[in-house]
Amino acid sequence: MTGAACSAAVLVSGGGTNLQAFIDAVRGGRLDLTLCAVVSDNPDAKGLARARRAGLPAECVPRAEHAGAPPFEDALAERLARYRPDLLILAGFMRILSGGFVARYEGRILNIHPSLLPRFRGLNTHQRALDAGDRWHGCTVHFVTEQLDGGPRIAQARVPVLPDDTAPRLAARVLEMEHRIYPWAAGLVASGRVRYRDGAAWHDGEPLREPLLFEL
Ligand code: GRF
Repeated sequence: MTGAACSAAVLVSGGGTNLQAFIDAVRGGRLDLTLCAVVSDNPDAKGLARARRAGLPAECVPRAEHAGAPPFEDALAERLARYRPDLLILAGFMRILSGGFVARYEGRILNIHPSLLPRFRGLNTHQRALDAGDRWHGCTVHFVTEQLDGGPRIAQARVPVLPDDTAPRLAARVLEMEHRIYPWAAGLVASGRVRYRDGAAWHDGEPLREPLLFEL
């Protein structure tokens, strides 16, 4: 699984701007990866329209038609299996995946979270960073485990919190960094430089004690 031989399915629920960053990075020759499919749990996800525009297979496994986690995840796994992805890239995918599902793709699921993990797992991260008076905020790319936002961290990008920041302004600056760091970090995994082993992230054969710092 290296380079363009590595195929990835991108899972989206909403706007899909991170998906767009992947599409642009692959097209621009900055990311050596094949995007084999885009799958959403939401039929109205703008990400599906972005996928179609880019000529990628766009699939929907509607959450409304599969009440409860097991039926939904079985349907998702079945749909994904058609494309045999090496990697799953969660890009604003608003479903928590069970341990059973994660085990099927152990060490091959990536997520981006809009905070400097382990700070602010879960939702409303930008407001929480403001409320806490943090001077730095940012985003983290990590391997997905069954622990919500708790899998081994691969890379982080930091964004300064400005005195007049509001949550939407801060979110917009973090999102801009997400679009840069996520394809970059996924490329490290696709090339085999970053791997998941024994519950940890490894970089060039060494365990990553701290996430790689992405700087412009
Ligand atoms: C991003 O902020 C990402 O960190 C979070 O969900 C948002 C997705 O945005 N997981 P988009 O759908 O990629 O525009």
